[in-house]
Amino acid sequence: MEKGALLYEGKAKSVYLTDDENVVWIEYKDSATAFNGEKKAEITGKGRLNNQITSLIFSKLHNEGVPSHFIQQLSETEQLVKKVSIIPLETVVRNVAAGSFSKRLGVEEGQRLSKPLIEFYLKNDDLGDPLLTDDQIDVLELATKEEVAVLKEKALKVNEVLTSFFKELGIQLTDFKLEFGKDESGEILLADEISPDTCRLWDMETNAKLDKDVFRRDLGNLTEAYENILQRLGGPSHV
Ligand code: C5P
Repeated sequence: MEKGALLYEGKAKSVYLTDDENVVWIEYKDSATAFNGEKKAEITGKGRLNNQITSLIFSKLHNEGVPSHFIQQLSETEQLVKKVSIIPLETVVRNVAAGSFSKRLGVEEGQRLSKPLIEFYLKNDDLGDPLLTDDQIDVLELATKEEVAVLKEKALKVNEVLTSFFKELGIQLTDFKLEFGKDESGEILLADEISPDTCRLWDMETNAKLDKDVFRRDLGNLTEAYENILQRLGGPSHV
């Protein structure tokens, strides 16, 4: 497979065309951003860690019957994925109160929710990714009701698989964000990444934060936290 022209450059990844029109080449970058780009840093190793962790998680999900855009990991920082057109919604699943949910609703961080909660946010940096109701999604034609039902079903399935997977590794999956896209046949596929950048992962014994909150809240060394996750997932050690 040949790497082609740059198609899109995001905050954490660059996307390149390939000689196959249905496949794109993703390169994970070392840049870290938080609070809608207000806080920025270059963190050596972050691209490698997120690429390796995402590749392991998408492989696990594939084995558990959850299809995604993921095709294969190419190198420490690169992977091949199916080209999809991204649905402009961020799908967040919460098991335990934290982050914006705790802040907005005054629910103490760490409080387990009575059932997994799914929220949708508009994927729009200029607007700061506002929370959406199902009716807003419908009226703004961001997705059909049927598509929203598919996104919810897929998000719950991902939550089920990953909650028990992480639990076996001594990690609580507090919440996470998913993105979905449509492939050339119109099928909705899980896309983007699933990594400590997009999940809250808390050590079940110490409650240590092993995710991007380390960067957001200046809690310590981000690569050490991400390396801890990679090692527990059985990933390759870095020399
Ligand atoms: O900030 P908030 O509490 O809404 O985040 C919920 C989850 O979604 C967290 O795991 C966070 O890392 C993830 N998220 C993300 N990208 C965003 C917003 C949230 O990965 N733009």
